[in-house]
Amino acid sequence: MAIRDIVIYPADVLKKPTRNVEDINDEILQIIGDMWDTMYEKEGVGLACNQIGIDYSIVIVDTSVKEGVQPVRITLINPQIIASEGKQTYKEACLSVPGISAEVERAYWIKVKALTPKGQEEIFEFEGFPAVVLQHEIDHLNGKVYLERLKGLKKRLALDKYKKVLRQLERAKKKNS
Ligand code: NI
Repeated sequence: MAIRDIVIYPADVLKKPTRNVEDINDEILQIIGDMWDTMYEKEGVGLACNQIGIDYSIVIVDTSVKEGVQPVRITLINPQIIASEGKQTYKEACLSVPGISAEVERAYWIKVKALTPKGQEEIFEFEGFPAVVLQHEIDHLNGKVYLERLKGLKKRLALDKYKKVLRQLERAKKKNS
């Protein structure tokens, strides 16, 4: 297993829907292992496969590293939200959108259909913080980052701030090359 580079928004692979995994073979299991290594290295609570530049529909979540929230540790393949209810607002951040965070409104409860790494189709229910993380990650698989969920002024401010972050990253890159 290996730590991969995190792809930074607005890279193309983050803006296109991912494709479903047809066969959970060694390649897929290797990618999942790399996703776990990468997420722990970067101290994230969730990661979508396209964030390491591979357009498969896979997400991983581990909320147990965060205090005071329901611990959920899970790998989901081809996940689909099939029902949702309620509302909650949480301040979100993303490894692919460094340097900023913003409050996003999402469903409080979701029901998700997905394959497990063993290839079994199962129905899962999540609420509270784990539901936030799952919705954020499944958005990634649909080619969306959380910034696109913001509206009006909040969105403009976040995008402006992010442009500055990108310019700083660009400058730092030039310095190091
Ligand atoms: Ni993200």
